[in-house]
Amino acid sequence: MSARAAKLREEGHRVFAFGVGEPDFHTPQLIRDAAKRAIDAGASHYTAVTGTAALKKAICAATARDRGWEPKPEQIVVSVGAKHALFNLALALYEPGDEVIIPAPYWVSYPEQVRLVGATPVIAATREEDGWLLTPEELASKITPRTKAVILCTPSNPTGSAYPRERLEALAKVLAKTDAYVICDEIYADLVYDGFQPVSMAVVAPELRDRLIIVDGVSKTYAMTGWRIGWSITPVAVAKAIDVIQGQSTTNPTAVAQEAAVAALLGPRDDLVAMRKVFAERRVRMVEGLRSVPGVKCRMPEGAFYAFADVRGLCDLAPGGERLGTDERVALWLLDAAKVAAVPGTPFGAPGYIRFSFASSLETIDAGIQAMKDAIARI
Ligand SMILES: Cc1ncc(COP(=O)(O)O)c(C=O)c1O
Repeated sequence: MSARAAKLREEGHRVFAFGVGEPDFHTPQLIRDAAKRAIDAGASHYTAVTGTAALKKAICAATARDRGWEPKPEQIVVSVGAKHALFNLALALYEPGDEVIIPAPYWVSYPEQVRLVGATPVIAATREEDGWLLTPEELASKITPRTKAVILCTPSNPTGSAYPRERLEALAKVLAKTDAYVICDEIYADLVYDGFQPVSMAVVAPELRDRLIIVDGVSKTYAMTGWRIGWSITPVAVAKAIDVIQGQSTTNPTAVAQEAAVAALLGPRDDLVAMRKVFAERRVRMVEGLRSVPGVKCRMPEGAFYAFADVRGLCDLAPGGERLGTDERVALWLLDAAKVAAVPGTPFGAPGYIRFSFASSLETIDAGIQAMKDAIARI
């Protein structure tokens, strides 16, 4: 898809980039300034493998402020992005034969990382009518003596769905009867809309804290994807294991990026509030736009910056006389016919759906939606 989109761009077409998984904003000025100062002050050396003391302290303070509970610095390992934090966890926790429960639709890296270390992803089903949330019954049905961990993502990539407190409580009750690690990816927790109240599993189920793992980072909240700073908050023994692994692979995350992350976490929140307001408007525009496209249905997401649309109605289209049939072929056709780049649902474990990122301007969203309608009208 990306290669085809790039080729279309080279040929001079305007491509509507709804495939991207990152904010289109620049990193806020205050954060960039802090990083520039850090360079001049000599932030050019190795740091502690698990991150600087200043950053770990900032993470503890920000977690207390934003998530309502305060971890200890020795529970934190800062890595080269949240993806790296998750990969370190896979290396530290999973062995061949272990099973890791992952609700679908899932972020593509979860099952792949499990497979990379020889363990087995066990996919649990969710339903759109139920807000794409894992039910306690479905979770219980997937637990076996080999269950090593469960990975929850709230708000979710790709669906934008977020877990309300009651559902987390219900899942915690099931998890309390196991000894599985509970991994909660909260990287989108600050990007929620319409007054949705995100709540951390660490607050809902303190009884799970001896095996609870929170993954978080600055990439999405502060428009810092390229700086590559994410972290895990784990039981101390797991943090020590990750310290060993990271010490033999990347050593520390980049010193300057760590300084920038401190500025992001401890600085004023005005830029975040402003970005969230813009995302909130784009969310409605994208979802309402998609709903106006014949053959497309779309649920309003609680968070993140993705609209996860049901495109089964488009699968029946037969542009060249041949029925498109799958979300992947619909996505490729949208790219060719409407120059709309979006990500098919099958790789997320959700055939029949396409993920449209609304991390682009209202004008781009409007034009992309219109291009889809025009392409459909042409056939
Ligand atoms: C659910 C989820 N977790 C983690 C990440 C990784 O974030 P980072 O850029 O900090 O590695 C992403 C990025 O797309 C994501 O969508």
